[in-house]
Amino acid sequence: MILNIVGYGCPVLKKVAEPIDKDYPKLQELIDDMFETMYHADGVGLAAPQINLSIQLVTIGYRPYDEATDTFGKKVERVFINPQILEEKGEKTYFNEGCLSIPEIHEDVLRPESVVVKYFDRNFEEHTEELTGMLARIAQHEIDHLNGVVFVDHLSPIRKTLLKRKLNDVVGGKVPTRYRMKFAKKK
Ligand code: NI
Repeated sequence: MILNIVGYGCPVLKKVAEPIDKDYPKLQELIDDMFETMYHADGVGLAAPQINLSIQLVTIGYRPYDEATDTFGKKVERVFINPQILEEKGEKTYFNEGCLSIPEIHEDVLRPESVVVKYFDRNFEEHTEELTGMLARIAQHEIDHLNGVVFVDHLSPIRKTLLKRKLNDVVGGKVPTRYRMKFAKKK
């Protein structure tokens, strides 16, 4: 089932999400719905607060792009439950990010190129994994969502001020999207 994605300005995106355990009701169905919702919106990551659920659950799915050969590799998918970033590694690099909750806005965000993440998968098996490249980038963006942080929060105050009108348009639902959204203040 495709779920509504909540827009920037909705209070749930500011909250710190609660950890869950394996008895969380209909968890497998919820994870499937999150993947379906994410792919339907052409997203590469989705955090539960974005579907208005303040719990520590993230889905990630994308095909890595190889610039040299202009081809897409095998699909990478992850489910992160109660993820924790244990360590940041490598240099910090800029990458142009977007967010399904903030349509029409893309900005360069500085983040470490690798992170070590401890998480539970959808079967509640625990993993500690070093993520690099695209996967590290998406994971950090999504784990931010679980802490009430969105990518525009990383921008300089000047950059954020320059984006103010565009962000207010998102709050008011005055942006076109190909997927269904629930906005903070839509008439
Ligand atoms: Ni996002």
